[in-house]
Amino acid sequence: MTEPLLELIGVHFGYVGRPVLRGVDLRLAAGERVALIGPNGAGKTTLLHLLVGLVRPDAGEVRVFGRPRRTEADFREVRARLGLLFQDSDDQLFCPTVLEDVAFGPLNLGRTLAQARADAEQTLDALGLAGLAGRVTHRLSGGEKRLVALATILAMHPAVLLLDEPTNGLDEATEERLLGHLAGLPQAMLIVSHDRRVLERLAGRAVVLAEGRLAEGILHRHPHTHQHAHLHVHAPGEVAGHGDPSGAPVHAEHHQTDDA
Ligand SMILES: Nc1ncnc2c1ncn2[C@@H]1O[C@H](COP(=O)(O)OP(=O)(O)OP(=O)(O)O)[C@@H](O)[C@H]1O
Ligand SMILES: [Mg+2]
Repeated sequence: MTEPLLELIGVHFGYVGRPVLRGVDLRLAAGERVALIGPNGAGKTTLLHLLVGLVRPDAGEVRVFGRPRRTEADFREVRARLGLLFQDSDDQLFCPTVLEDVAFGPLNLGRTLAQARADAEQTLDALGLAGLAGRVTHRLSGGEKRLVALATILAMHPAVLLLDEPTNGLDEATEERLLGHLAGLPQAMLIVSHDRRVLERLAGRAVVLAEGRLAEGILHRHPHTHQHAHLHVHAPGEVAGHGDPSGAPVHAEHHQTDDA
């Protein structure tokens, strides 16, 4: 069996006085896309932070790229090749402009100013964000920040992506574009998400964190019948359609759908 890219072995961790992880084992192999799910406060973000050395285990081992990682020097090397998308984009973005923020990683990896700028422009372009390059980062909308934060990671061409709720705050069309982009990337990914579409589009398997333990989840796809309401919003004067004779601007309809 090939060496996993990432591995947690019997990891225990707690913040002062409060245990969070109580013996967690995890392996991520090359090419795998694993969803990490679990209730709020279960420790999903903490687990990602352990993998990049932002917090250190109380017991157990963190192995990345086949080697145990313990010291700050170990993790400095790890952070250059593991791209962590923070749950809060404000933790990721700190430069005055978008282009500077996205070029920061490549510069830090030793690229020249011109190369870093080219990396940043190319990454923004690939994500459809070229128009944001000159914008002031802290004035971006929440969704724009999310996408720029992802660009800051992808510009470094990491070997593995650790994504903490990547679609949080994105509208449906933007989310769809983002998922399409992520689905086309070759990197292994560990993705924290509660978003059904993320699981459907990206995840090959799921692991569930609850009460300090990690268990293998079951991902299955099956046809189902459900009942739901649709809210249609129409502009004033627009013909409502959907067989609604009243032409009311807002209407809800209940119906049976067979999603098979
Ligand atoms: N810096 C900190 N100091 C003390 N406690 C913390 C700290 N960070 C997180 N915690 C606590 O540790 C637990 C796990 O937090 P974590 O953020 O990892 O959960 P999560 O699964 O990512 O939750 P969510 O789904 O809400 O993002 C929570 O009880 C949280 O309150
Ligand atoms: Mg979290």
